[in-house]
Amino acid sequence: MTAFTVKPLFSIVVLTLTLVVATFLISSPSPFSQFSLSPTSPSRKFDIWSVRRLVEWRPCKWWLDGDLTALPAKNNGYIRVDCYGGLNQMRRDFCDGVGIARLLNATLVLPKFEVAAYWNESSGFADVFDVDYFIQQMDGYVKVVKDLPPEIASREPFRVDTSKRKGQFDYIESVLPSLLEHHYISITPAMSQRRDRYPLYAKAALCQACYNALRLTKVLEEKGAELLQAIPKPFLSLHLRFEPDMVAYSQCQYPSLSPASLESVDAVRGDRKPWTGEMATIWRNRGKCPLTPSETAFILQALSLPTNTNIYLAAGDGLMEIEGLTSIYTNVFTKSSLLSGEDFTSMHGNTKAALDYYVSINSDSYIATYFGNMDKMVAAMRAFNRMSKTVFLSRRAFAEFTSQGLKGKELMEALWKAHADDFGTGRGYALPDCFCEFKL
Ligand SMILES: *[C@@H]1O[C@H](CO)[C@@H](O)[C@H](O)[C@H]1NC(C)=O
Ligand SMILES: *[C@@H]1O[C@H](CO)[C@@H](O)[C@H](O)[C@H]1NC(C)=O
Repeated sequence: MTAFTVKPLFSIVVLTLTLVVATFLISSPSPFSQFSLSPTSPSRKFDIWSVRRLVEWRPCKWWLDGDLTALPAKNNGYIRVDCYGGLNQMRRDFCDGVGIARLLNATLVLPKFEVAAYWNESSGFADVFDVDYFIQQMDGYVKVVKDLPPEIASREPFRVDTSKRKGQFDYIESVLPSLLEHHYISITPAMSQRRDRYPLYAKAALCQACYNALRLTKVLEEKGAELLQAIPKPFLSLHLRFEPDMVAYSQCQYPSLSPASLESVDAVRGDRKPWTGEMATIWRNRGKCPLTPSETAFILQALSLPTNTNIYLAAGDGLMEIEGLTSIYTNVFTKSSLLSGEDFTSMHGNTKAALDYYVSINSDSYIATYFGNMDKMVAAMRAFNRMSKTVFLSRRAFAEFTSQGLKGKELMEALWKAHADDFGTGRGYALPDCFCEFKL
């Protein structure tokens, strides 16, 4: 998918590197974090992607080449995973559920994808993901059926509510008895679980399900390919989050927002009052505050990404203050600017999220301003496909440096250092259990 896009980017990088810089890159034992801006040039001749990496994340050996423990001849029952929230949150929970099903030696029924109110649609699992491909890819990892055996087909599953369990708990202790008793249960995986106790075959089932068995339906893949083709190459996919609800939720203060933006944040604030005084600074310095589009543009410049970079905006509707980005980075493309109006208006939330995901796992580079479910999923898939140009902007670094009073060029320099170190050492984005650090 990306072979044709890599080449132009590579040649641009090569063109912009001066011989001196190239020599320095090769000869320096630790090339990142050592450069300083010359006072006359506003930015480096090379960007964050040319920083030498010392490690990268790759799928763990025990998952990809591990010997699979044979599935038991008889199962302990059937499990349906019920998923809620946004597309990538549902996917995360479903992956957990696959691990749990294997742990309990249950056969998996196709999951229920519930949609949160804001999707305003009813797109199920089979509308998003290729079911036959999933079943085929899970062969040997866990048993999956499309249809239940006749004796339980007419029943609704017994719902095991794991969300109310407090603290870390063990599925074998707390869920297996219900499975054995009812023979068909539904679960929504809890966030806190003793995954550390999983045998490797259960972890491998989770990893395989999440990163090597979920492929978008043909219809969605075609739509995604159409969108991908329309984006000028090479391009950066930027996942920018700055919507009123998430800003309200963050409890951060943004005194410089426009009155209109402040009004839309206040409208959804509810009783979540923003922190004030010293607490506001502590909160911000912990990296709790979403980056505004203009802060994002500033950091992108600090990473020496030229302002004529082609940027695909992987973002939902309702971004505030987007001019803060588009007034500096002028080649910004959105779904609605690339797909015909007819396509766009008939498209549901899940579909739009699926397209952003598709473009982002196929883009030359990916930068996220947040660390949400989509970002984790995209970063993992890019690591799986050995696409290394992935960066998470550091809200914490930005807050700390600005609270120290750094500005302008000094601030840019500090931000470059922090991000170049994270990128070079792989610290910038820790991936889930399925991925292991690999020294380069
Ligand atoms: C599940 O099956 C494995 C073999 O695949 C076996 O070692 C394990 O004890 C079984 N666990 C349960 C909970 O039945
Ligand atoms: C949800 O869908 C209904 C029916 O298609 C439509 O009338 C309504 O405006 C939609 N609401 C939102 C928030 O999109």
